[in-house]
Amino acid sequence: MLSIIGLFLAFVHAAFFGVYFYLTWYHKYWQKRGVTTAEPLTIFGTYPGILARGSSLVLDVQDVYNKYKDKHRAVGTFITRQPQLLILDPALAHEILVDKFSYFRDTITSSFVGHNSDEKYTKRSPFFSAGEDWKRRRTEAGGGITPNRLKQAFTIWEQSGRKLIEYIERARREKGDVIETRDLAYRFTADTMADFIWGIDNGSLGGKVGVVGEFQKTSSDWTVYAFSSMMRFNKSLVAPFVRRLFQMRFFTKASEAFFLRLTQDAIKLRQGGIGEGRTDYLSHLIQLQQKGNSIHDSVGHALTVHLDGYETSGAVLYHMLYSLSEHREEQEKLRSEILDALASNENISYDQLNALPFLDQCLNESLRLTTPIGFSMRICTKHVQIDLGNEKTLDLEPGITVMVPAFQYHHDDAFYPEASEFKPDRFENGAASVFNKRGCFLPFGDGPRICLGMRVGQLSVKTAILHILSNYSVEQTKKVPLGADTGLGIFLNGDVELKYTKLRK
Ligand code: HEM
Repeated sequence: MLSIIGLFLAFVHAAFFGVYFYLTWYHKYWQKRGVTTAEPLTIFGTYPGILARGSSLVLDVQDVYNKYKDKHRAVGTFITRQPQLLILDPALAHEILVDKFSYFRDTITSSFVGHNSDEKYTKRSPFFSAGEDWKRRRTEAGGGITPNRLKQAFTIWEQSGRKLIEYIERARREKGDVIETRDLAYRFTADTMADFIWGIDNGSLGGKVGVVGEFQKTSSDWTVYAFSSMMRFNKSLVAPFVRRLFQMRFFTKASEAFFLRLTQDAIKLRQGGIGEGRTDYLSHLIQLQQKGNSIHDSVGHALTVHLDGYETSGAVLYHMLYSLSEHREEQEKLRSEILDALASNENISYDQLNALPFLDQCLNESLRLTTPIGFSMRICTKHVQIDLGNEKTLDLEPGITVMVPAFQYHHDDAFYPEASEFKPDRFENGAASVFNKRGCFLPFGDGPRICLGMRVGQLSVKTAILHILSNYSVEQTKKVPLGADTGLGIFLNGDVELKYTKLRK
């Protein structure tokens, strides 16, 4: 009996030490290379927020950033058990994302696919692909959203803008002047994306007030699942084999089946002559299929555009409206810029919309404050030397990851005095590109892997703001705290109830 207990205890000890050694195996990694290290916790690494509830990755990074930023260009950290370099100096971030891109070509998300052959569409997105495959996917997906094509497709956004105002009018008549604006923003981005990508009217703006149709509901469920998957996959960094073991996936099977059916039907309708001659994303997908792409490639590209065209752009829109509702002076200034532009041309063009300076400044300021994608994580793909300052260099090995903390740069008083304040004037006179070149303004990332849909996102938000502010004054009815952690950023937590008062014309 005693020997059985002894054996059992020996086994428990061996298992305990095995797990302990596994979790702490790399903990001297940075020290051995002379790099200052943010001390890791045994199970959690540097950022407890990845594995533990009640904590947040973005806020954990903030703690490390605050502690080391004035002393070092980069600090050694551990993302769960794996060594990762946190880039504290924006100039070094620019070097990594832009100048030394060929050494940091792949993103950490590209390591999150490939273990589950049943998952069809993530691996077809540039967001999740690596190497030559990434290049091909990016070129293909990007071909449908060039400035020229967006210019031709601009009527889609214009029409959605008009439908948005009709929806607001109906909502005001039926339910009063206060409208929950997160819902409103997603109705608008659902409308633009359904029309641009699939050539359909999904009813999110044209249907009954407050009712969410199948397309929007599936899109919301799909994006909520995809963003929570991002958190699950970050957790899996502690033991990557679990991805294969549990056949982890980003998109649910049901949503994949829904979007496959939708794309097949949309292509059939277009080939039957409905919407013939339209320049939209669907016409691009059909052209690619004629050159040999499969229907699954088409769904993959459609979902690449829809993921951020619906969710991220919608999030930017309601955060921007919330900020403008709080800052009435800026709202007035923006409205007068918009009304002046509309006075000279009621049907504003794509180019004119993009040439409104204060609209651009307000969007940049809103993107800075919200930063929906708060960091870029890159995998070092070739040996490279990094200048750590103080006459120290680091030979970075392939496989090691780096994190560029855009959210932290955007909220640093050193780059943006009174960084927590909404001050669009800081982006006057093309300052956005100056900040960007200094590496401290990265709402869309930078370098060859800069956001592929930047222009689409900007177009959606700017069109909606133009239509809303030229028709309504928007007021705050109650403060909404920040606190909803998406795993990539910190969003407004709670209903965004804004009051829409019709302007006298
Ligand atoms: C205003 C809304 C948007 C914001 C704030 C945003 C932000 C970003 C950021 C920060 C990245 C870089 C991530 C990294 O460095 O790892 C990124 C990448 C990407 N975005 Fe966006 N995005 C937006 C809208 C869109 C839209 C509408 C699309 C649809 C076409 C899109 C498609 C992509 C893709 C495919 C990538 C990966 C690019 C690559 O790795 O080559 N985004 N986005």
